[in-house]
Amino acid sequence: MGKKVTFEILRYDPDKDKSAFYQKYEVEIRRPGMLILEALNQIKWELDHTLTFRRSCREGVCGSDGLNVNGVNMLACMTKIEDISTSKIVLQPLPGMPVMRDLVVDVEDFFEKFITVKPYLIRSTPTGDKEIYQSEEDRKKLDGLYECILCGCCSSSCPSYWTDKQYLGPNAFLRAWRYISDTRDEGTDERLKILNDKHGVWRCHTIYNCVKACPKELNPTKAIVEIRKMLLDKQF
Ligand code: FES
Repeated sequence: MGKKVTFEILRYDPDKDKSAFYQKYEVEIRRPGMLILEALNQIKWELDHTLTFRRSCREGVCGSDGLNVNGVNMLACMTKIEDISTSKIVLQPLPGMPVMRDLVVDVEDFFEKFITVKPYLIRSTPTGDKEIYQSEEDRKKLDGLYECILCGCCSSSCPSYWTDKQYLGPNAFLRAWRYISDTRDEGTDERLKILNDKHGVWRCHTIYNCVKACPKELNPTKAIVEIRKMLLDKQF
């Protein structure tokens, strides 16, 4: 028998619970480097099959298992239990997003905001049948911008995102900057108009929670600062 760690998980089933409550589980540590996701699977498969959470790839690729661990947003499949420096681990759904059940949040609004910034290449110049090439140098400018897996950890960690329901949030800004930075794209002004709004980049208070929360170590705050600089330079 491995050592046990106490997990306290915020539970809520809208079909039967009046309000959310914490439920305790004793999870056995079965290998060094055991992940939070393995603990969740152990609970669901062996202790309580009613526990509900999202997961798919278990490799930090699909972005489906973002949650709040002892107050910090992270991916369950990328977080080792031994790296959480306590014998008790508290799991909650991502803050600032409506809870559907237990650790599952409604991400519809998050994705709508992502779509708002037009997360695709915009071209007005006809390209015919030719590919649009980039130099190696131009391609490198996208490093640190394209790797986002849309887990929502960044936006959900942002107090502005919690309080302003129309705030686009760090995820949308990072994605907008990814396309603005792409030399093949011709949609910069279109995007800047959307971002230059009281619910856009000006609402950010540079708290850096998004940077701390990103499991891919991306920097949405830097993207926000770059967008603001561009807005000022272009005198939008
Ligand atoms: Fe896909 Fe964690 S399960 S990112």
